[in-house]
Amino acid sequence: MQQNLQNKKGFVQGVFDRVFNKYDLMNDFMSLGIHRIWKKNLINMMNPTQKNNLIDVACGTGDIGKLYLDNTMTNLQITCVDPNKGMISKGREKLNKYKNIEWIVASAEKLPVLNNTFDFYSISFGLRNTKDISKALSEAYRVLKPGGRFLCLEFSKIQNSNLDLIYRNYSKLIPLIGGIVIGEREPYEYLIKSIENFVNQKELISLMEENNFKNCSYRNLSGGIVSIHSGWKI
Ligand SMILES: C[S@@+](CC[C@H](N)C(=O)[O-])C[C@H]1O[C@@H](n2cnc3c(N)ncnc32)[C@H](O)[C@@H]1O
Repeated sequence: MQQNLQNKKGFVQGVFDRVFNKYDLMNDFMSLGIHRIWKKNLINMMNPTQKNNLIDVACGTGDIGKLYLDNTMTNLQITCVDPNKGMISKGREKLNKYKNIEWIVASAEKLPVLNNTFDFYSISFGLRNTKDISKALSEAYRVLKPGGRFLCLEFSKIQNSNLDLIYRNYSKLIPLIGGIVIGEREPYEYLIKSIENFVNQKELISLMEENNFKNCSYRNLSGGIVSIHSGWKI
């Protein structure tokens, strides 16, 4: 099912073309603001210093880049990548006071950057949208410096059956909320299906290992509604 959804050429991009204008607003509505806490957890897990540079892929409107720069106060250039021009232009507008962000329109499967460039690679709620997860992971590995770290924040599989039931029922409301807040239901029907069809925590670890990452681990947040996966290029 995941492949069916993703192989429709341009389908995923079409989804984000329809939501980029109100993407941030809808994120807050859908997650009741909790996505901010999850993203802060990602940065805390990274624990970056001023000397570390970052590539944030599937950056959307740049939330991770902003948190990273606020946290590190680094003068180094960081790189935010997304194939959707609307998302990138919203991000530029939102973060126009941050002068050390390079914005690149590209997909995770083909990053137009040199090998061994970054200390950190992050991807937040983006991996499940890629056409080819394995290719995205091998690109992540390629662009990281030896000693660099990969971090992925993504929807995952809930560990507790009661919470799973509550969440499944809540999920049914999300397209309705999308309809009310931004006048679009279909992109949020895609969102729910893409979450259901995404790999589980252990399967993602296996894919990371197949793509050469070492010391791979994950941490569940909110009972596994999302998880953060980590791996190293050693
Ligand atoms: C749910 S948004 C996440 C945005 C942001 N990272 C966040 O956490 O708020 C998913 C993003 O993935 C992007 N995307 C879709 N296909 C992609 C691909 N093949 N490679 C990289 N990003 C992709 C979309 O354009 C969209 O901006």
